Amino acid sequence: MDSNVRPESMVRITTPELADAFIKEQVAALQKQIGNGKVLLALSGGVDSSVTAALLIKAIGQNLTCVHVNHGLLRKGEAEQVIDVFRNQMKANLVYIDATDRFLDKLAGVSDPEQKRKIIGAEFINVFEEEAKKIDGVKFLGQGTIYPDILESHGVKAHHNVGGLPEKFGLELVEPVKLLFKDEVRVVGKALGLPDSMVFRQPFPGPGLGVRCTGAITRDRLEAVRESDAILREEFANAGLAGKVWQYFTIVPDYRSTGVKDGKRLWDWPVIIRAVNTTDAMTATVEEIPWPLLNKITKRILAEVKGVNRVLYDLSPKPCATIEWE
Ligand code: XMP
Repeated sequence: MDSNVRPESMVRITTPELADAFIKEQVAALQKQIGNGKVLLALSGGVDSSVTAALLIKAIGQNLTCVHVNHGLLRKGEAEQVIDVFRNQMKANLVYIDATDRFLDKLAGVSDPEQKRKIIGAEFINVFEEEAKKIDGVKFLGQGTIYPDILESHGVKAHHNVGGLPEKFGLELVEPVKLLFKDEVRVVGKALGLPDSMVFRQPFPGPGLGVRCTGAITRDRLEAVRESDAILREEFANAGLAGKVWQYFTIVPDYRSTGVKDGKRLWDWPVIIRAVNTTDAMTATVEEIPWPLLNKITKRILAEVKGVNRVLYDLSPKPCATIEWE
């Protein structure tokens, strides 16, 4: 039987009891596959790689090395949460690499979106490879591949967010959640004790805030994206919208407009708010944010984010607009 095909008899994991049974079964299967071998895992902090890491920690403990690469394009507090959950709480073997300068130096002056994606992807592999070389005797590569990744890749092995890692490393793949759908991964994540903010996290693109700081990325504008995104997320959480809206974030484009503050004319950036609902990301509708909430977020962004003089709400559905701006 093809191990990349979900058997029809496989029960959909919808309850904590079913999740516990899956965890027990997978831990035994992982121990059988890996034995005393060592596993390397790129841990982004997204739900799929986090659940994969938690399963592997349960199965092989310190024989797993998680590598969390901070490309400088993460949201506020993200790297800190990964370190707190995996190193402090789960006592995992976690290598944290702050590669912000490397990524931002390579991206300086690059404005083409696909070129930006290529640079981020290639640099990620370089950083990961350098770390992999420092660990002796690694035989396996853990991956948070899930079933839609396999279905979408039409028989070509899915690589999730990070293109090309397995071939490059010649390591045997370990993919404990590859037959699960996203909702099942979340149920398993909860049963493994991962925090809700990780398990129910909104989708976040591999190139991170890099595609929301449009055009050539600059550190000051990137900071404006990160800070405005943090305000938006906080206010959505306070308003009870966090788990209800599919994806919500801010964009800071690379152009300025005139403003005025304390009697002085300003030449600053706008912040654009995007909040959309979808089931498959192929089409999307715009969330109808209550006006008082939009006003509150606007006021906070204008008061707290440096270099910003306008806040806009993107009313465009997909199609014809894409969800991201780049
Ligand atoms: P678009 O902008 O194409 O986005 O409507 C659809 C979904 O895909 C996400 N997205 C990405 N995810 N790498 C990723 O891992 C990327 O380069 C990328 N670009 C877009 C986007 O956030 C949305 O959920």
